Amino acid sequence: MQVETSSSKYGAKHYPDNIREWKKEGNYFCFYTTETILEIRVIADKIIRFRYAADGTFQRDFSYATSDTMQESPITFGIKEWEETFEIFTDALRVFIARDNLRITISDKDGKVINQDEMGFHWQHYLLKGGKIQYCSKLVQEGECFYGLGDKPTELNLRGKRLENFGTDAYGFQKDTDPLYRNIPFYYGLHHGIGYGIFFDNTFRTIFDFGKEREDACSFWARGGEMNYYFIYGPELLEVAESYTKITGTPELPPLWALGYHQCRWSYYPDTRVKEIAAEFRKRRIPCDVIYLDIDYMEGFRCFTWNKEWFPDPAGLIKELAAEGFKVVVIIDPGIKVDPEYAVYQEGMKNNYFCKRADGALMEGDVWPGKCVFPDYTNPEVRDWWSSLFKSLAETGVRGVWNDMNEPAVFEMGTFPEDVRHDYDGEEVSHRKAHNIYGHLMSKATAAGMKKYLMPNRSFLITRSCYSGAQRWSSVWTGDNVSSWEHLWLATVQCQRLAVSGISFTGSDIGGFIGEPDGELYTRWIQLATFHPLMRTHSASNETGFNQEPWSFGPDYEKVVNKFITLRYKLLPYLYTTFWQYATHGTPMLRPLAFVAQQDTTAHNCTHEFMFGDALLISHVSEQGMKEKAVYLPAGNWYYFWNDKKYTGAQEVTVPTPLEEMPLFVKAGAVLPQYPEMQYTHETPVTEMLLHVYYGEQEVKSSLYEDAGDHYGYKNGQYNVIRFKQHSTPQQFHLKKKFYINYETAYKNHRIIVHGLPFQPTVVIIDGQKTVLSAENLQADNTVSFVVERSFEEIIMNKE
Ligand code: GLC
Repeated sequence: MQVETSSSKYGAKHYPDNIREWKKEGNYFCFYTTETILEIRVIADKIIRFRYAADGTFQRDFSYATSDTMQESPITFGIKEWEETFEIFTDALRVFIARDNLRITISDKDGKVINQDEMGFHWQHYLLKGGKIQYCSKLVQEGECFYGLGDKPTELNLRGKRLENFGTDAYGFQKDTDPLYRNIPFYYGLHHGIGYGIFFDNTFRTIFDFGKEREDACSFWARGGEMNYYFIYGPELLEVAESYTKITGTPELPPLWALGYHQCRWSYYPDTRVKEIAAEFRKRRIPCDVIYLDIDYMEGFRCFTWNKEWFPDPAGLIKELAAEGFKVVVIIDPGIKVDPEYAVYQEGMKNNYFCKRADGALMEGDVWPGKCVFPDYTNPEVRDWWSSLFKSLAETGVRGVWNDMNEPAVFEMGTFPEDVRHDYDGEEVSHRKAHNIYGHLMSKATAAGMKKYLMPNRSFLITRSCYSGAQRWSSVWTGDNVSSWEHLWLATVQCQRLAVSGISFTGSDIGGFIGEPDGELYTRWIQLATFHPLMRTHSASNETGFNQEPWSFGPDYEKVVNKFITLRYKLLPYLYTTFWQYATHGTPMLRPLAFVAQQDTTAHNCTHEFMFGDALLISHVSEQGMKEKAVYLPAGNWYYFWNDKKYTGAQEVTVPTPLEEMPLFVKAGAVLPQYPEMQYTHETPVTEMLLHVYYGEQEVKSSLYEDAGDHYGYKNGQYNVIRFKQHSTPQQFHLKKKFYINYETAYKNHRIIVHGLPFQPTVVIIDGQKTVLSAENLQADNTVSFVVERSFEEIIMNKE
């Protein structure tokens, strides 16, 4: 019999008893107690999967999160039997399973405890709903910090918090509002310098308690499904992040234009207004690549239609905008208007594609168009149909789609009632199991359609709701935020958190969606967003007529806003390289300080500072009227971006914050590639690539990735990876380069700009050839600048 210890309105809690039998098959092990089975699967040396069949029967092993490309690659593993435990070992880990209660202790090879069950797995009948609540509790280790969980608008370190995943249309959310839009049941633990992660792959409502209810316990549970989690060992947190994306996948490279600046509003209409906005960008010479059409472009909010009065010639409009370098992204919601005259409704009805209630009636609810029905995206046939609907949008010239309201949001009801039925790829489940993947699968189907019809071009997608793994096909934004300074802070924590939760391609509505920012707040927000992978202004200023464009706050602010958007474009090669690192290795593009300096406990609770890629450290200006800001720099040497002043890390430094600057540091030794100024991506072929090299005495590696910025040639090897290594001394500057080149760039030369050289060179030696430097090469700002052929391999400058 299972041991029953406590009871509540849900019924007694059940705990596994002692192990009666065990078996090993391939890379998995099963342990049998009287009723419960534990399956442990060695996925890789550092990734172990735990699954529990509470009462002896496993459910279908099926996941919407895991990537098809996930490979189980255990190398060395085995089992040992001890008196009180079994031990499964790999090259990196030792997993102990207690014989008398299945409790787990995981240590590293040296026996240092990484993670340990408190009560471990236990379960409880969910009497009201006829299922089981699946729990797992772990001991909180001394000094342990917790990170991850997607978009939670709260401090980065989650210690002492309790949070849940249940996709919610959280209009005007505030600090600590929970749950929000996304469902990412993945967290990190960090203690004694050791980092690990736990991904609880369960689509029911999941709850995580990081020592809130009981200080010494970290527990997570779901109101149904199976206790099914992956334990991921680092010890580096960044390595955990990378392994998590080995399980849940990484994206393809986005079109380069999607990394440019996006302008959005609810809504720009009619077409003449859209053109005016576009023209204004070009007239004022403020770079921009993307304009969005929110719900008003449609005919009565019917998806896949155009309002004939406001947009009589959508293809013509899009073509005209394209000629000026703009791409158009349109919104598509899941609610399909109940209208017998409307083709999408007719087709869906005819084929039984819409969600139904338990009694067979259609799931109907009000959203923007009025009464709507909702496709059941959990049905693969419906997903194919949905994908096919994007043909006409793609043919019209639309290059990206924005999926919204897909928590799913329903006015008044909030979301679907629990009895709504879903196919769940053949399983037939209630909404309790499908809620958290509704928007996930909508966006998956949208992405598949757009990719197919835009071939050979790359497409772009942004979604509001999703589950773990959606990074494979979509970007996200943080939802309906507010024009306030607190929300500027929320934007920084949310984007950092999303990035370490697998979803780097993220941004917030710049300036705030609800309310009206003043020029200062808008400018500070633009500054932060310059360093967010997705940079989009959006506002709900439809009714008030308030304008939220870069020029809306007067010339002084416009100038600074323009300076930062321009900087964004200059940094595109660096940003694209950072995206490539993410796409190939899963490395988060935004890295909280705890993730880059995990041995340094001061870094563990930093929320303002983060790394953007390998070389840039950002801290945003977080208060109105702020004249200076204290910034914590992790160990190492740093340059202040705006004046090349050198700083030593492992300390807090204070920098002035006039409106036109924000705290921005470059890691000493780094190479920061930059484009010349441009108004939009691919405006003209780039004929010179700048390499800003920051003198450093520790060996630092940097890279530059390049490809066509569109199409899929890169998948056939048409790209360049250029690797730099700088290791200089006070007597000698030394930069080495290695490369894989298989893509023809328009530029043939690099302009090298060396910052912070501690001596004045007279000669530069490029691949052994001496060139005398003239006064022209020695800049007033103390940089040394010269042009070299793209094929150079080594640069040396000596102190004489
Ligand atoms: C939702 C979205 C918002 C959009 C609005 C109208 O509130 O979150 O971004 O503008 O709907 O479509």
